[in-house]
Amino acid sequence: MISGRGSNLAALIEACANSDYPATITKVISDRADAGGLAVAAAAGIETVAIERKQFTSKAAHEAKILEELATSRPDLICLAGYMRILSLNFVRQYEGKILNIHPSLLPKFPGLNTHQRALQAGDKRHGCTVHFVDAELDSGPIVASASLEIDPADDENTLSRRVLKLEHVLYPAAICKVLAKVD
Ligand code: GRF
Repeated sequence: MISGRGSNLAALIEACANSDYPATITKVISDRADAGGLAVAAAAGIETVAIERKQFTSKAAHEAKILEELATSRPDLICLAGYMRILSLNFVRQYEGKILNIHPSLLPKFPGLNTHQRALQAGDKRHGCTVHFVDAELDSGPIVASASLEIDPADDENTLSRRVLKLEHVLYPAAICKVLAKVD
């Protein structure tokens, strides 16, 4: 599930193209019809669905439509890759232990937005990204794996976000393997 440019999605698509990789992507769901990631998925021949929040009168109705869409795929895992909404407890319960998210900080540090700026402001020496199971709180839930780098004194928000994003693209496919190895 995505909301934006889909660079993590692209990394997952690339991983799944390897015949040794233990997963395939059956569907990409976006809450924005203009998400760049939808074109990335379509170019790879993956079914895409845009389900925009504004088409629904409530969060519950929006999620009900997404759940309906998911039910047709019966996914073993739902990977949030830049999906910018908090899922309700009702949603999470229906896929307990099957929803993953990638977050650009070393959780539990810096849940939420502007993580790179906050790491710089805090004067942290290290920063990175985390893959975690999703619960109904923001960027919460058990951690699966993380990857970190040393913050360079010359780093600004842009360089740091680029460097962490590269780590994300390696971490997410690896973390999914780790989870699937335990599921099987
Ligand atoms: C990534 O930094 C991810 O960690 C965060 O949102 C961003 C999505 O980027 N949850 P992309 O759409 O995968 O390029």
